[in-house]
Amino acid sequence: MTSWTPDSWRTRPARQLPAYPDPARLAAMESRLRGYPPLVFAGEARRLKAALAMAADGRAFVLQGGDCAESFSDFTANVIRDTFRVLLQMAVVLTFGASMPVVKMGRMAGQYAKPRSSDTETQGLDTLPSYRGDIVNGPEFTALARLPDPARMETGYFQSATTLNLLRAFASGGYADLHEVHRWNLGFVARSPLAARYNDLSSRIDETLAFMAACGISSMTTPQIRETDFYTSHEALLLPYEQALTRIDSTSGDWYACSAHFLWIGDRTRQLDGAHVEFLRGVKNPIGLKVGPTTDADDLLRLIDVLNPADEPGRLTLITRMGAEKVAKHLPPLLRAVGRAGRRVVWLCDPMHGNGITTAGGLKTRSFDAILSEVRQVFDAHAAEGTWAGGVHVEMTGREVTECVGGAHRLTEADLGARYETFCDPRLNAEQSLELAFLVGEELKARRLPSGIPALAAQ
Ligand code: PEP
Ligand code: CO
Repeated sequence: MTSWTPDSWRTRPARQLPAYPDPARLAAMESRLRGYPPLVFAGEARRLKAALAMAADGRAFVLQGGDCAESFSDFTANVIRDTFRVLLQMAVVLTFGASMPVVKMGRMAGQYAKPRSSDTETQGLDTLPSYRGDIVNGPEFTALARLPDPARMETGYFQSATTLNLLRAFASGGYADLHEVHRWNLGFVARSPLAARYNDLSSRIDETLAFMAACGISSMTTPQIRETDFYTSHEALLLPYEQALTRIDSTSGDWYACSAHFLWIGDRTRQLDGAHVEFLRGVKNPIGLKVGPTTDADDLLRLIDVLNPADEPGRLTLITRMGAEKVAKHLPPLLRAVGRAGRRVVWLCDPMHGNGITTAGGLKTRSFDAILSEVRQVFDAHAAEGTWAGGVHVEMTGREVTECVGGAHRLTEADLGARYETFCDPRLNAEQSLELAFLVGEELKARRLPSGIPALAAQ
């Protein structure tokens, strides 16, 4: 294998990168970003890798969630808080179900670049370049908005920094204290059919905390009660931006991508000889690889060799996104091949991206039932192969949007128009997210041995 440098990806074929009209402006922006402070520290990425190593080993469960695409225009404290809050609620539910630590990663603070199936979009008689996420161009259907603009990278950088700042404050400043579990529910979920279940869980946590306090274990003595570890992640799609934020860690002398703790390669950019694989193989962060239904087992093993040659646990997370109709056929051979090769990976289930449908009215949606069905089939496939279903990856928001059909309120296609706000793919709303967490929690509980030890660890 040839040697790696932060720019060695430039010699490889690169899919999905925007065609910037003015290379000099692009180069000037890259150089400016290279001078800016990193957004995350290498030490944090290493901590996440250690947490993911536990999930590879059947000793932790991963929850990764957030917007399909974060937006520059819809950028407020409330949007960030609401998504963070639902992720915390989901994590509490899953921690109870799994009886093990839940590793929390947001698709937040940098999830701005989108791969597209088509380079262009046609409306009426006009054809324009596709929208590729706010860090590249604008969603409005005008020639000016759709022109890729390097200045957007700087906006993306600063918005990531501000988002991360608030997330860090929430995670360690008291908001995530387990004594607040009841209060996280004061939003509209309190009015939903799930409220009673959630409140019951909160009361059990309160009781446990009171018992622990009586034993001398409290927020004051134990940071784990007061604070939580929350990590950021996004698709490493816009390589000029990612390269500019790649730095040598002074402690280890290794290269780290410092735009987020965890970066992943999308299903459209996972070519073995491609630029995205080349870039991510050289940074030491924990990384992800989307694995869609067209993934061949031999190709997957070759990708694992390139992305995690030393078989370091926690380094590589395979995010499977097959679709409810295909998962039973396509996932087991991959689980078997990776297992047979003895490779240590985290298996994450993304039940969103293989389950997209378009309504007669032309809206992109996903059905809650299909999402749940894929999750259940993934659990079954892992159980049959003796591998650990290490977590879920979802597109969700803390808001009351109407983008996915089904769920406790039985949203129908006719309801979708009410609050369809996504800039890209349809997301689970707060209530659907929490419902999914309860259902996944039940699966985890049902698959635990009576002693509370997960089946895998007992083998
Ligand atoms: C995504 O996660 O938003 C995405 C585009 O996924 P995939 O690469 O799996 O299609
Ligand atoms: Co998406």
